[in-house]
Amino acid sequence: MLKTIPLTTMLTIILVVLAVIAFNTPSQARKGAAKPKAAAAAKSAAPEALVARGHEVFLTNCAPCHGADAQGDDGPSLRHKGLPEAAISGAVTHGFQGEMPAFGGKLNAPDQQAVVSYVQSLQK
Ligand code: HEC
Repeated sequence: MLKTIPLTTMLTIILVVLAVIAFNTPSQARKGAAKPKAAAAAKSAAPEALVARGHEVFLTNCAPCHGADAQGDDGPSLRHKGLPEAAISGAVTHGFQGEMPAFGGKLNAPDQQAVVSYVQSLQK
């Protein structure tokens, strides 16, 4: 079978294969290719930290009623309910009279934002 392929064709195939390898290797290792990934990671780092802080705030202030993972306890589950941000921040700021305390005056603004981000992250 190999004997039927002319030598020039074989050489062409080998050259093409070598060219593909030579072309691909440096482009994968190129530093520039890694840059957009690094930028994307940096972008998502901020919300992740906010959500992590929000979970801490949640454990201290909300978990006694809503459960450690917001799965519901005395208070309702807050997971996968499609709650819009305004509803979450409204609940945190104003509470529900006789049911849930208002946290507007209890938590500082960054912690309120963090806990809202945490609850938002549970809606997906
Ligand atoms: C004392 C118990 C208690 C605590 C503490 C508490 N909640 Fe609640 N929460 C409730 C109850 C009960 C409801 C339901 C109120 C209603 O629907 O009338 C509720 C409702 C909510 C809702 C609206 C849910 C919906 O389906 O519309 C959100 C959002 C919420 N809480 C978030 C929080 C967050 C965030 C914290 C902590 C900062 C917190 N809650 C702390 C008891 C509590």
